[in-house]
Amino acid sequence: MKIDVLTLFPTMFTGVFNESILKRAQEKGAVTFQLVNFREFADNKHQTVDDYPYGGGAGMVLKPQPIFDAVDHLTKQSDHRPRIILLCPQGERYTQKKAEELAKEQHIIFICGHYEGYDERIREHLVTDEISIGDYVLTGGELAAMVVIDSVVRLLPGVLGNEHSPVHDSYSSGLLEHPHYTRPADFRGMKVPDVLLSGNHRLIEEWRQKQSLRRTWLRRPDLLETYELTEQQKKWIEQWEKNKR
Ligand code: ADE
Repeated sequence: MKIDVLTLFPTMFTGVFNESILKRAQEKGAVTFQLVNFREFADNKHQTVDDYPYGGGAGMVLKPQPIFDAVDHLTKQSDHRPRIILLCPQGERYTQKKAEELAKEQHIIFICGHYEGYDERIREHLVTDEISIGDYVLTGGELAAMVVIDSVVRLLPGVLGNEHSPVHDSYSSGLLEHPHYTRPADFRGMKVPDVLLSGNHRLIEEWRQKQSLRRTWLRRPDLLETYELTEQQKKWIEQWEKNKR
């Protein structure tokens, strides 16, 4: 996968791209990153990338020209039609499902604005997707792009070893993950559940599935609205509902 990031602050990304899994993903050849400062594409003498809003009002607006030209330049370098993603609070809310969809792409261009709004023609005639990472406002799209990139790259084939298979992630199964424990079995009087020490794999798997469902039922009941429950799962939830009353 090729990932290009259009930003006025490319150095914000260097720490994130050069550590841990994202670093390993590049070394393995699963992904290449290119950071592009779109100020370099501004066609005016002072290389300005923003301007006053038509109609007046506070704040500046990112001009269409530098961003359209930067995207044209990157698209010409590519054999594949890229996904062009604008990070903004008005976008569709980001989910694991979207991460899985994006992980199938060959080329993604992220556009990060800072402080300002974007000229509407960028939204209407350039981008393929607008993404928000949550219902809060950041100072710019850079942190949001890092979040999306991290969650997509870890899904690329070969990036995580089998030991960290994304199949069991919270959200990809539709449920939150079950609790985890490691040694010691008794830490300051806080004990690991007996079943995990029993060696009975069938019981352990059943305990994990039940915990995963219970945690979702308690913390994120909204996820269960679209989840198809098995008969066993329906029975567990009925029990918990009864105990609540
Ligand atoms: N830019 C500012 N806030 C944002 C958010 N919540 N998601 C994506 N981009 C943003």
